[in-house]
Amino acid sequence: MIVYLNGQFLDSDQATVSIWDGGYLYGDGIFTTLRLYCGVPLDLPAHWGRLREQARALELPLPLEFPELENAIASLAARSGRRQADGRIRITISRGGSMENPLPLRDLEKIPPTILITLAPLPEDLPDLQSRGIPVITLGAFFSRGNVPELKTLNTLPSILAQRMAAAAGCPEAILTGPEGILLEGAASNLFLVSSGNLLTPATGAGFLAGLTREKVLNLAKEMGIEVRQKKLDGRHLEAACEVFVVGSVREVVPVVTVDGRTVGDGTPGPVTRKFQHEYRQMIAGLLGN
Ligand SMILES: Cc1ncc(COP(=O)(O)O)c(C=O)c1O
Repeated sequence: MIVYLNGQFLDSDQATVSIWDGGYLYGDGIFTTLRLYCGVPLDLPAHWGRLREQARALELPLPLEFPELENAIASLAARSGRRQADGRIRITISRGGSMENPLPLRDLEKIPPTILITLAPLPEDLPDLQSRGIPVITLGAFFSRGNVPELKTLNTLPSILAQRMAAAAGCPEAILTGPEGILLEGAASNLFLVSSGNLLTPATGAGFLAGLTREKVLNLAKEMGIEVRQKKLDGRHLEAACEVFVVGSVREVVPVVTVDGRTVGDGTPGPVTRKFQHEYRQMIAGLLGN
């Protein structure tokens, strides 16, 4: 597998990162994951915008401009034989560091970061999950995203633990709840409920990452004339929902068919979820000019 590392294209076996890198030592860094559709990265400007904003928040310099990023991804796709293929891109920007300065606390903008871009095939089971829907478990505040939940940092241990708990229960995703059981998000996705013909989703500010796909789904709902309520939600809303789905850049729109072993609706993906899946695909086809 070919990867992009600090301006070079290398075989992943040859790509190495310093043991002094703050990303490795402290989770000091950020990342984003997006999808390649027929060789085209979807919404790269928005992902870049989010990376820039989050890099600013962490005083992480970005020694690369958007056109260079775009070229790097196009070149990576070509070198990986994915010029016309689908795939999953991850852009990781970590602090960097050196033996002389293993815990940088100031002049952060002077430390060259490590920039890694990988391009992998999509998970093989994704079409099946999208079509049949997934079981999920709910997990408590211990698993929520710490004290910088709005940033997509390399500090993802709670989410990894949540995904492991879910996997052990045979579930591809977990729904995370905060203090007093308020609903937040999936371990790696955002959450939507359908109730009485309305779309419900946790309101931002509750302590979760409001992803770019969530925003797209909210825009689609507006176009579809579906009323959206962004509000404080809890387990009662989840129990009352006739449909539940989770969204993310790679998985798009995935129906949830059981929660903690309890069937949602009739246990199959519902009509509103199907409509969002369809409209999401149409929107992508439009963006890609198909
Ligand atoms: C915790 C969390 N919430 C939400 C999302 C969805 O974000 P996006 O739609 O920007 O991919 C992700 C994606 O990885 C995530 O990890």
